[in-house]
Amino acid sequence: MAIDIFILLLLPLIISCDQDAFIGVNIGTALSDTPNPTQTVVLLKSQQIRHVRLYDVDRAMLFALAGTGIYVTVSVPNQQLLAIAQSNTSATNWVSRNILPYVSTTNITAISVGNEVLTTIPNAATVLVSALKNIHSALVSANLDSQIKVSTAHSSTIILDSFPPSQAFFNRTLEPVIIPLLEFLQSTGSYLMLNVYPYSEYIQSNGVIPLDYALFRPLSPDEEAIDQNTLLHYTNVFDAILDAAYFAMLYLNYTNIPIVVTESGWPSKGDSSEPDATTDNADTYNSNLIKHVLNTTGTPKHPGVATSTYIYELYNEDLNPGPTSERNWGLFNVDGRPVYVLQLTDSGSVLTNDTSGETYCVAKQDADSKMLQAALDWACGPGRVNCSMMLQGGPCYEPDTVVAHATYAFNAYYQRMARADGACDFNGVATVTTTDPSKLFCLYIMLGRFGGSNNTFINGNGTSMVPSKNSTISGGLMIYNSVSFSNLAQALFWCSVLL
Ligand SMILES: *[C@@H]1O[C@H](CO)[C@@H](O)[C@H](O)[C@H]1NC(C)=O
Ligand SMILES: *[C@@H]1O[C@H](CO)[C@@H](O)[C@H](O)[C@H]1NC(C)=O
Ligand SMILES: *[C@@H]1O[C@H](CO)[C@@H](O)[C@H](O)[C@H]1NC(C)=O
Ligand SMILES: *[C@@H]1O[C@H](CO)[C@@H](O)[C@H](O)[C@H]1NC(C)=O
Ligand SMILES: *[C@@H]1O[C@H](CO)[C@@H](O)[C@H](O)[C@H]1NC(C)=O
Ligand SMILES: *[C@@H]1O[C@H](CO)[C@@H](O)[C@H](O)[C@H]1NC(C)=O
Ligand SMILES: *[C@@H]1O[C@H](CO)[C@@H](O)[C@H](O)[C@H]1NC(C)=O
Ligand SMILES: *[C@@H]1O[C@H](CO)[C@@H](O)[C@H](O)[C@H]1NC(C)=O
Ligand SMILES: *[C@@H]1O[C@H](CO)[C@@H](O)[C@H](O)[C@H]1NC(C)=O
Ligand SMILES: *[C@@H]1O[C@H](CO)[C@@H](O)[C@H](O)[C@H]1NC(C)=O
Repeated sequence: MAIDIFILLLLPLIISCDQDAFIGVNIGTALSDTPNPTQTVVLLKSQQIRHVRLYDVDRAMLFALAGTGIYVTVSVPNQQLLAIAQSNTSATNWVSRNILPYVSTTNITAISVGNEVLTTIPNAATVLVSALKNIHSALVSANLDSQIKVSTAHSSTIILDSFPPSQAFFNRTLEPVIIPLLEFLQSTGSYLMLNVYPYSEYIQSNGVIPLDYALFRPLSPDEEAIDQNTLLHYTNVFDAILDAAYFAMLYLNYTNIPIVVTESGWPSKGDSSEPDATTDNADTYNSNLIKHVLNTTGTPKHPGVATSTYIYELYNEDLNPGPTSERNWGLFNVDGRPVYVLQLTDSGSVLTNDTSGETYCVAKQDADSKMLQAALDWACGPGRVNCSMMLQGGPCYEPDTVVAHATYAFNAYYQRMARADGACDFNGVATVTTTDPSKLFCLYIMLGRFGGSNNTFINGNGTSMVPSKNSTISGGLMIYNSVSFSNLAQALFWCSVLL
């Protein structure tokens, strides 16, 4: 990314910003109110998230990610595996349709060919490696194989006897698939993708695993788990699972395949039968996980080798079936409000609500009124601010000026976007202030903190301010521009977190 090079030239201090391990997020699709991809990108930016994993190849999302510097892992959905495994032509077509249109602008770094195939659709196990190979050869033909890695995400339950880690091995029944898979990963310089859930291990252990051990909380020395074969001390379940995977690969004589954790997280809410799915536990787990990964502590077997990890997940997937916990793995609600605030004061303000200084977004008094109106239309339309309070007769109708109405809408949008750097620009007609605009314009604007009001943000519709087609387009560009504008600050910040 050009901007990184630019930073290196400017600030030699940041040379150690050699990002060998990162935190990313998964973006699921079981959402009742699918956020506009542009808003998702603003949210990612505001949270300094530079890596995302998608469960498919979403055209609008990949275009929204173009030019943002955010790295993307895309997926071949499980139901497409068979066709791709059976025919190189299908694989070539898949790559032509789902990769080639985007790679010149969106940084696609990996393709996960299926998700948890061995544990969810065991019938497809025999075709899995062929599917990976066919996708890989299609990438070779397109000269993209060095840029885009091919792998497939596994549930860590394919590893058996994972404690002590030194005795772990891959489920023997799966060896006919695992061995050629590892051979493929090694020969193509790819990595093992693993979904790692200390929450599930903890639940299934029926009290054998202490909660503190699952949550990366400090343990007294006598509580640490010791692998008697290696005498390595384990202070958390996450590391124990990773080392089990390293030992399982070693058992098959594969010693140089890195691991990327494609999913890990903790649900913030559950049924009465899921008492440990709480906001506090989710916050503790994800906060500690992020610190653990970014601190480059590594595992007892591979100290100093941090494992890049995608948190499961960005949004609560409210349409997921199953127990309540299944709908509550997200860091954010679909409307962009955080479910909880991560405790990362030591690691910088990644994923925090930054309430240190109250800031608001207001319309510039001297802005061109046509520009203001266009921006207002955008905010009340694609920007999804509920502007009904500004309709005639509504509590925020007075003062009936475009500056007042635009301020209301801009601020609503800005607060919802967690005051992201790029979220208060609106083509230059808006500016950040520390004076609460509700005192100036509308007493009903309770937007001092996001998450404070349920009714403020809606799918803007049915108001007299539905935007014209023209302003939608300029609005889209407007946000897009302001996002890229803040790249420099974001990249700087990200590096400083890692130092
Ligand atoms: C697909 O291509 C690979 C290598 O390019 C080759 O080894 C394999 O036999 C081909 N498969 C089919 C089904 O044609
Ligand atoms: C993707 O990232 C790599 C490494 O940072 C960079 O060299 C490349 O130019 C990027 N590609 C795009 C399309 O942004
Ligand atoms: C091992 O894998 C086979 C085939 O998928 C499965 O039937 C079996 O239950 C697995 N064994 C364990 C202990 O998970
Ligand atoms: C791994 O290597 C050892 C020593 O070279 C050999 O004895 C063993 O059979 C190998 N195991 C496998 C699964 O190939
Ligand atoms: C970060 O790593 C250092 C050693 O490299 C360790 O002393 C420190 O406790 C770690 N911090 C956290 C929060 O894990
Ligand atoms: C974030 O906001 C919540 C309430 O919305 C507050 O309780 C918390 O202290 C804030 N966190 C930080 C780090 O300021
Ligand atoms: C928009 O806000 C108004 C006033 O608070 C509320 O009555 C209305 O239901 C909201 N619209 C939606 C779709 O949430
Ligand atoms: C927001 O909605 C939740 C549930 O829908 C409700 O419990 C809460 O009181 C609402 N908060 C406000 C400020 O309206
Ligand atoms: C939004 O507007 C469209 C078209 O104008 C309409 O079909 C739809 O029902 C509206 N949705 C809501 C929630 O008002
Ligand atoms: C919208 O765009 C079309 C085509 O560019 C133009 O003819 C029309 O005048 C525009 N409408 C407004 C309200 O600006």
